Amino acid sequence: MDVKENIAPLQKENTSEEIVVRIQDLYKSFGDNKVLNGFNMVLRKGENLVVMGKSGSGKSVMIKCLVGLMVPDRGVVEVLGEDIARLNQVDLDELRSDIGFLFQGSALYDSMTVRENLEFPMRRHRKKFEGVTDTLPLVQEALENVGLAHTMDLMPEELSGGMKRRIALARAIILKPKLILYDEPTSGLDPITAKEIIGLMRSIQKKYGTSALIITHDVDCARVISERMILLVDGINYAEGAYQELVTSSDPKINAFFKK
Ligand SMILES: Nc1ncnc2c1ncn2[C@@H]1O[C@H](COP(=O)(O)OP(=O)(O)OP(=O)(O)O)[C@@H](O)[C@H]1O
Ligand SMILES: [Mg+2]
Repeated sequence: MDVKENIAPLQKENTSEEIVVRIQDLYKSFGDNKVLNGFNMVLRKGENLVVMGKSGSGKSVMIKCLVGLMVPDRGVVEVLGEDIARLNQVDLDELRSDIGFLFQGSALYDSMTVRENLEFPMRRHRKKFEGVTDTLPLVQEALENVGLAHTMDLMPEELSGGMKRRIALARAIILKPKLILYDEPTSGLDPITAKEIIGLMRSIQKKYGTSALIITHDVDCARVISERMILLVDGINYAEGAYQELVTSSDPKINAFFKK
């Protein structure tokens, strides 16, 4: 486990491990509200990295900076080898076609069927699907991965909260992304449904070998899914390590995360 003071400045490491995301010295304020104050993070290929932070600590802000939906005040964000700040809109869109995003909530389009919701990212990223004339097999595959092949023609209002989350997960994987970003994948779900979603996240990682950044409050989710965790406190990566290392820490700021 590392506490911030002990973390060496992030440099291009001399390792053969491929780095999927590198966030270096990220700052973001809204007026006087200093949200991120020098946040650092590295996500390696094939890894499940969990970022935990209390509500309002800047987790969603960080993830938005990562996909270029928000421009940081300072700092470098590299995703799949690209410096986000240097990309034009076309290149940014192309990069996003390799990123699956499970939004906080689920954020399905209420006026579209399940199938149309799943086709939406494919229409946005036509280039990636240039040779595809029939989207049906891809929609079917994505839905089968989340056990909901029979819901293709339903509207979101006909689905339960847990089903919506699964559909959102199917939509995040339909692009066969190299990286999946999960913003609170289990929030608002009962413990059994949350467990099912975690199970699906794991099976997707196993099947496709994707790297995942998981933002969560849910200690059980973090324990089950994380290979490594970062605790976001006061706008910085306050501590990082494996769940077992962090859960046994005597640092009160770390400890607070694991008290039920
Ligand atoms: N577009 C914005 N304009 C102004 N302030 C914002 C904006 N987006 C986020 N903030 C502020 O940034 C802070 C961090 O917000 P963020 O949504 O990242 O929190 P979070 O850690 O994701 O919280 P939660 O766990 O509740 O989702 C909050 O104080 C929020 O009010
Ligand atoms: Mg959030």
